[in-house]
Amino acid sequence: MKKITIIGTGYVGLVTGAGISEFGHEVTCVDIDKNKIKKLNLGEIPIYEPELKSIVKRNKSKERLKFSDNINEAIKEAEIIIIAVGTPQGDNGYSDLTAIENVAKRIGKNLNNYKIICTKSTVPVGTGKKIEEIIRLNSKSIKFDYVSNPEFLREGAAVRDFLIPDRIVIGSHSKKAFKIMEDVYRPLFLNETPIINTNVETAEMIKYASNAFLALKISYINEIANLCDSVGADIHVVSKAMGQDGRISPKFLHPGPGFGGSCFPKDILALANSGKKNNVKMNTIEAAIKTNNEQKLRMVFKLRSLLNNKLKNKTIAVLGLAFKPQTDDIRDAASTIIIPKLIKEEAIINTYDPVAMENFKSLKLNINYFNNWEDAVKGADALLLLTEWNEFRGIDLSKLKFLLKTPIVLDTKNILSIHNLHSLGFKFDNVGRKVIN
Ligand code: UGA
Repeated sequence: MKKITIIGTGYVGLVTGAGISEFGHEVTCVDIDKNKIKKLNLGEIPIYEPELKSIVKRNKSKERLKFSDNINEAIKEAEIIIIAVGTPQGDNGYSDLTAIENVAKRIGKNLNNYKIICTKSTVPVGTGKKIEEIIRLNSKSIKFDYVSNPEFLREGAAVRDFLIPDRIVIGSHSKKAFKIMEDVYRPLFLNETPIINTNVETAEMIKYASNAFLALKISYINEIANLCDSVGADIHVVSKAMGQDGRISPKFLHPGPGFGGSCFPKDILALANSGKKNNVKMNTIEAAIKTNNEQKLRMVFKLRSLLNNKLKNKTIAVLGLAFKPQTDDIRDAASTIIIPKLIKEEAIINTYDPVAMENFKSLKLNINYFNNWEDAVKGADALLLLTEWNEFRGIDLSKLKFLLKTPIVLDTKNILSIHNLHSLGFKFDNVGRKVIN
């Protein structure tokens, strides 16, 4: 059992804290936001993440997981400190490392004995070295080892991804640190989860290379889907057949309105910038970014075409605001680009999302919110579906036709049956699936 302090209680920090306490370690999660800690101590979870509440509750009651705003004390007590603060995108497209640097300073000032300092936050290659330097400058020559241990958690499936990962990446220049970190993940180690021991820079690069590759895969399939639209091929069958080739794999071959979220858009841009900085061409990465931006606009174009090029005064029912299902996160979601464009063209927006509406309200857009899909579509000129929530997959299309003023649908997630839409007489579009056999 190790004493571990996690700094930052965002979705990475919280899931990591809960997951590591589930492995039997004694974990303290800290944050500068006192209010957040107060709420966590009352059992409130600030984000919507399936299974998180129950795993937090279980480990809190077993006294393996606690929340504190006394960061200095928690640093002093810990054998291992895990940095999980945010690294948002700065104005210049580079990651904003202010929070990371402040944490490193604080760790240095409170370093009282040998510790492992481990970063989970996604940081540009080379940041580990900087963090080490800051800690060293601020500490009184007390020995510590630095580890990069990137996370591969998907929002909406983060707890599961933590407990049953595909691999663990541990980057360090110290053998002792590898051994200690392997002990942290001991239950996974025993389960034969692959553990990749490498240096800090390689570990940092693995995270960016993985996220950017997945983002690139999505942009690629989106372009193929767009071409399917023009040539009469069906992307659904194309993706399925491609995925059966073991070298390609069926995952991340679902076309849509473009990827969003707090990771892919930021990470792929950071990788492109890293290329620029190092004078290395990143043509595929640049293209994936361009395609993704254009894909969102393409959805506006498709909707406009369905409505005979008139969006003015048309009521559009938008179902789904979150960047993907099982999350209330709207960061860089297609909805945040597409809805303002529709408003600019003087369309009226009626919307419903099972959990993301509160977050969307903070954008202060002049749109109407409803408590269920039926009310949102009632009397609308068209339906625009943006997130593949399960409750939208099960929409009764006859009921939908009855509720809409005109039976027009743009399904950007390809979840509604094209055969049923066709036989019920809908005018519809999607991403690469127009064919009716
Ligand atoms: C992503 C990675 O999948 C995680 O492994 C990584 O840890 C995380 O970023 C991170 O860096 O923290 P996440 O952003 O939560 O996770 O969500 P994904 O499930 O990867 O989806 C990202 C976006 O791609 C969503 O907008 C989704 O709708 C879109 N997507 C995904 C597609 O358009 N098509 C697909 O086939 C798959």
